[in-house]
Amino acid sequence: MYPLRRNRRLRTSAAIRSLVQETKVTANDFIVPLFVVEGKSVKEEIASMPNYYRYSLDLLEKEVQELWNLGLKSVLLFVKVPDNLKDNKGTEALNADGLMQRAIKTVKNAVPEMYVMTDVALDPYSSYGHDGIVEDGKIVNDPTCDVLAQMSVSHAQAGANMVAPSDMMDGRILYIREALEENNFIDCGIMSYSAKYASAFYGPFRDALDSAPGFGDKKSYQMDPSNRSEAIRESLMDIDEGADILMVKPGLCYLDIVRDLSNEMELPIAVYQVSGEYAMLKAAAERGWLDHDAVMMEQVMAIKRAGASLIASYFAKDVAQLLQS
Ligand code: PBG
Repeated sequence: MYPLRRNRRLRTSAAIRSLVQETKVTANDFIVPLFVVEGKSVKEEIASMPNYYRYSLDLLEKEVQELWNLGLKSVLLFVKVPDNLKDNKGTEALNADGLMQRAIKTVKNAVPEMYVMTDVALDPYSSYGHDGIVEDGKIVNDPTCDVLAQMSVSHAQAGANMVAPSDMMDGRILYIREALEENNFIDCGIMSYSAKYASAFYGPFRDALDSAPGFGDKKSYQMDPSNRSEAIRESLMDIDEGADILMVKPGLCYLDIVRDLSNEMELPIAVYQVSGEYAMLKAAAERGWLDHDAVMMEQVMAIKRAGASLIASYFAKDVAQLLQS
């Protein structure tokens, strides 16, 4: 009780503040999302994601070396698929020599120790821009899971360490785990987007991959942002089906969900701080309205404080550079 207890005592200097600091952000906390395109010497800035780029494979190699030297140990790969290769069933996703499969090999050749995660969902390959196969205007669940399982095996064959299904079909973790086991990829892990919400914060990402849904929205598979207990149900099912890591997505608006899951689940929790969150801060900082680095650090720290042990973030490189400087 005051005056015996004065909480400001532990805030009097930088030294004591750092000694009692409860949450520390390091480069080890991050997964770096990377966008890959066909071509040579391509480094295209994404219009709605300032200072974020799509790389062709030759420049991807350089980028991952740079990331590794900054202490970043994991990447999450996304590919931008040319329109002429898109169809309803995501056929190109299973091409052993497809862009994703070549990107995995490129990263592994450049930095063998880099932990390579891959996005598993049909939207970049889908002529409809949906995460699953479309029949009569509906996204069909089980046939989609079959393709996702084959896609995961194909990524594992190319050398992926972990697949990250971002589609929200029911049962896909089980389909994928069984397919990986049958093909002897027992060490290939699964990071499940367990609580992925139907969020308006994904807009810039869909620009990056030209993957916006051609009709309707994603509300019949992604979760309603109003729901909390559903995140627990989704996560418990994913654990039963063989997930190694659970994920909450987006980040900042959903930190209550992150806290719920980290209190109740035994698995590591990842957060995806998504493209819209990145764009908001970049835009405000460009106008001089927010201090970019300070707000960035406060945000990733808040995500970690909420209970995340991994953060997939477009700020990963900025954070790592700041921590090194
Ligand atoms: C698609 C996918 C999306 C993101 C990751 N994987 C978009 C979507 O569901 O429409 C969003 C990531 C971001 O906004 O940064 N399977």
